[in-house]
Amino acid sequence: MRAVAVRNIGDPPELMELPVTHPAPGEVLVKLAAASVNPIDLGIAVGRLPMPHVFPLVLGVDGAGRVTEVGEGVRGLQVDDVVHGQFLRAPLGHGTFAEYALVTETPDSGALQRVPDGMPAEIVAALPTAGMTALGALEAIGLQAGQSILVVGATGGVGVFAVQLAAARGAEVIATARPEADRWIRDFGAAQTVDYTAGEVAEQVRKTHPGGVDAVLDLTRDPARFAENAGLVRDGGAAVSVALVATPRLLASERIVVRNFMMQDKPDLLARITAEAAAARITVPIQQVVTLDEIPGALGRNAAGGARGKTTVRI
Ligand SMILES: NC(=O)c1ccc[n+]([C@@H]2O[C@H](COP(=O)([O-])OP(=O)(O)OC[C@H]3O[C@@H](n4cnc5c(N)ncnc54)[C@H](OP(=O)(O)O)[C@@H]3O)[C@@H](O)[C@H]2O)c1
Repeated sequence: MRAVAVRNIGDPPELMELPVTHPAPGEVLVKLAAASVNPIDLGIAVGRLPMPHVFPLVLGVDGAGRVTEVGEGVRGLQVDDVVHGQFLRAPLGHGTFAEYALVTETPDSGALQRVPDGMPAEIVAALPTAGMTALGALEAIGLQAGQSILVVGATGGVGVFAVQLAAARGAEVIATARPEADRWIRDFGAAQTVDYTAGEVAEQVRKTHPGGVDAVLDLTRDPARFAENAGLVRDGGAAVSVALVATPRLLASERIVVRNFMMQDKPDLLARITAEAAAARITVPIQQVVTLDEIPGALGRNAAGGARGKTTVRI
């Protein structure tokens, strides 16, 4: 099969011809129709996840396709089921940037779910990691109608889902966006935008919200900026870092709730974010669709910035 993989940790991702691995007991083999790109793909390629690896290590955590083989003992899925989800499992290396991927059937974790009728593979492959993270992080915040939330990193995969979900809950959403993405993110429900390239975000938000905001959802990686943004939160509010950059000192705050949010693949999260998209309560913005051989370039472009929603892969 054709797959995008690395030969060793730190090597550049490349298109390779690799054998298809057949499912062991408890495993399912999926013929992929689509995948999507996430920052963690390159993180895995450089060994950021403390899990066992197999080489060549096929990258890609999100995917959608059809079950073609099931291992002994698999009960929840059968051949020909159309599924999507996060294919993140130990050992890392059986990813979704390939014609086939293996995943362990874990009915309790909900790694894979059946796709609702009529939803295109490229849409459902864009949902798992970014959608579940956005939904889970907003629930960790406990955002209520009428509250205000600053979303930092709003124009990327997680951000564009978080903006839509927060706006749909009746919150006032302040979104960071470069000027060229201003209209774009407002169309997803942002009431106000802040150009982070024009000055400190916290300073700009304080001008329009002198009393602060109820919540901050920060998707960016700068601990000092996260601390500044958390300083905007009113007493009793919440600041969540999805890039895990809240320091122990900040996490111990008694004034506000501060959390580093790590997404866990709960079945209800994937089912619920998928239901939101199926009912058109959220849109899945696809910035570009690439083919398997274009993935190495797409990973590099994404890492360089400028994500506007999701990059998906047609396989
Ligand atoms: N903890 C978890 O479980 C979990 C799960 C999923 C993702 N994540 C993490 O969450 C982060 C976001 O993921 P993603 O999929 O949304 O990434 P993405 O699609 O690459 O989007 C990142 C967005 O942030 C914007 N951005 C970059 N620097 C910024 C800054 N200083 N201020 C404001 N916006 C900025 C980028 O736009 P411009 O480049 O145009 O500015 C881009 O739109 C990543 O660090 C990812 O690893 C964590």
